[in-house]
Amino acid sequence: MLKGKKIVIGITGSIAAYKIPFLIRLLIREEAMVRVIMTPSAKDFVTPLTLSTLSRANVIIDPFKESTGEWNNHVELGSWADVMVFAPVTANTIGKMANGIADNFLVTAYLSAKCPVFIAPAMDLDMYNHPSTQRNIQVLRSFGNMIIEPQVGELASGLSGPGRLEEPEKILTLLRSYFEKKQDFAGKTILVTAGPTFEAIDPVRYIGNRSSGLMGFSLAEEASCRGARVILVSGPTHLNPGNPGIQFVKVVSAAEMYQACSNSFPSADIVIMAAAVADYTPSTVSVVKIKKKEKTISLGLKKTTDILEELGKRKKKDQLLVGFALESGDGIKNAREKLKKKNLDLIILNKLEDKGAGFEATTNKVTIIGKKGDPLTGELKDKKAVAADILDAIFKLRVNLKGI
Ligand code: CTP
Repeated sequence: MLKGKKIVIGITGSIAAYKIPFLIRLLIREEAMVRVIMTPSAKDFVTPLTLSTLSRANVIIDPFKESTGEWNNHVELGSWADVMVFAPVTANTIGKMANGIADNFLVTAYLSAKCPVFIAPAMDLDMYNHPSTQRNIQVLRSFGNMIIEPQVGELASGLSGPGRLEEPEKILTLLRSYFEKKQDFAGKTILVTAGPTFEAIDPVRYIGNRSSGLMGFSLAEEASCRGARVILVSGPTHLNPGNPGIQFVKVVSAAEMYQACSNSFPSADIVIMAAAVADYTPSTVSVVKIKKKEKTISLGLKKTTDILEELGKRKKKDQLLVGFALESGDGIKNAREKLKKKNLDLIILNKLEDKGAGFEATTNKVTIIGKKGDPLTGELKDKKAVAADILDAIFKLRVNLKGI
């Protein structure tokens, strides 16, 4: 699967750098072409000689070759690579990548990448959990970079927690499945909604919710990688689609989302409504900022249009409609009722009780429920992996529907 694939491996100064020679050996065994770049401080953890011997190519550390005065061309490397894998990546380099601070060859190569980029953070748990690291990782995600989540376990410091670099075998599996990816949605148009909606109360205030948009964006990315033409209609989030092929429609309110979905629905083969659309909106919007004159005020609310239900009524025979349901209690029963009521083909159930799943998390745990068959409950995993599972389920459904 990896034969002839051009892979750039970027190593930074983390103790976990000792695992990378194993990764390189595995890649070379699969006949991949590997070029290694490293930061100067990575040399303290693994030697360039080891890496150049295993990768069968010179290791690049500095922008210039001191002995000859030649320039190491990061732009060329950026165009050469089919994929770049930065592992391990320290909090320092994550910060530089997120902010475009190109003070070494590795970051210049990162900024020149024309290919998909995997980033595998590795550090001590407190550094990993620090808000600045978490914010920078979010920024990298919003660039469309794929984060290889660190594992929870014993760390070099003797502490235990998140921060362990993913094992080389797992990184290899990830790369294999990335290259294996079939173009199984080629020729299909998929409308995906994401994020919250904001319902205006007055010119400065609104009713919103905590949806980050990550689940919808992950679905859009995955669908696009698998060959679909993707229209992503999103409420306000800080995310941007990493894939330039995605048609991005920004909306604010439930009414705007309804309008955008109605416009795109006729051309869509599949609709995935991952957005957390407001169920109610203020009955009237004050044109001026509401003054705090009264001791108490009441806000009149009216129901928004249920977009999914409306699309369910308009659905043609060869269109597929997928909804989400966030439930507590008997989730499967409630989700099944929703599936029927809204004329859906598939419903993705999130249980409120599941830790690490839902709105603000980067991971999710879902149960996929169709009209027939048993519900399929997955593990808690990265939202990108959950997106892949959902698209696999849609693919199976589509194949069945068309009787192929
Ligand atoms: N949805 C929608 N339009 C709305 C509200 C929700 O299209 N105005 C979609 C969401 O995108 C999601 C599904 O409906 O796919 C979730 O519905 P949910 O809010 O969980 O359930 P409701 O049908 O609103 O019922 P309730 O909140 O009472 O459980």
